[in-house]
Amino acid sequence: MNSSVTVGFLQSNPIFGDIRHNVETVIQKLSSQKADLIVLPELFNTGYQFISKEEVKELSEEIPSGFTTQKLSEFSKENSVYIVAGLAEKHKDVFYNSAVLTGPDGFIGVYRKTHLFFKEKLWFSPSDTGFRVWQTPIGTIGIMVCFDWFFPESTRTLALKGADIIAHPSNLVLPYCPDAMVTRCLENRVFAITANRTGSEKRGKEKELKFIGSSEIVSPKGNILCRASRENEEYMQAEINIIEARNKDLNSFNNIFSDRREDFYNL
Ligand code: ACM
Repeated sequence: MNSSVTVGFLQSNPIFGDIRHNVETVIQKLSSQKADLIVLPELFNTGYQFISKEEVKELSEEIPSGFTTQKLSEFSKENSVYIVAGLAEKHKDVFYNSAVLTGPDGFIGVYRKTHLFFKEKLWFSPSDTGFRVWQTPIGTIGIMVCFDWFFPESTRTLALKGADIIAHPSNLVLPYCPDAMVTRCLENRVFAITANRTGSEKRGKEKELKFIGSSEIVSPKGNILCRASRENEEYMQAEINIIEARNKDLNSFNNIFSDRREDFYNL
């Protein structure tokens, strides 16, 4: 395994419903970057504010055969890069707010969002995949999607499953996550890449949603290695050393995993 890896995010501002435009714009922006892993926002290809089940049906795609996953897989292969990206998934008659992982050999896997936020509960079913990690030559990658961050169990489960890097596609509207991820990383000694979107959406009679940008990469010691602005579309990246996420010793007496008192955590 190569312990030194370059990880990045693209903070984008999709046009609701224009999948072809959104995917092609992102791919064009990524084509000038050189990284080992790039994370894209939640629902990066469709936009966020669905207002009917018909829209969800029309804009969701099968994974991996759909347009978006095929395009990402092709890009990953051509550029030898791992990508994590959020998209609306159609699986038989069920719809999920999902994220895919693609890599140098194409499609790798899918994670379906566990904790649905607000009106997502009208459009999507909650996860049936649970939290998943994938061992790759650039480290073990785990995925959670946006509001999953609010539940410390999400990051903890991924970390206990061995994640070195948590890829976190997001469409954040509340202000808390960027600072809170410092604690999530610290208490689990993992890297996290939160790829949020920017801009706003106001569809139909719905209230306007303003996305907070502030995408970031945080280290296992809680350092913010880079953070984007609130309002601009931006690509940022950082060099990280995976070995840092494998050392769970806080000092010569404390190891944050082996010190856990699972006997006292049972309800
Ligand atoms: C969110 O989960 N998109 C806030």
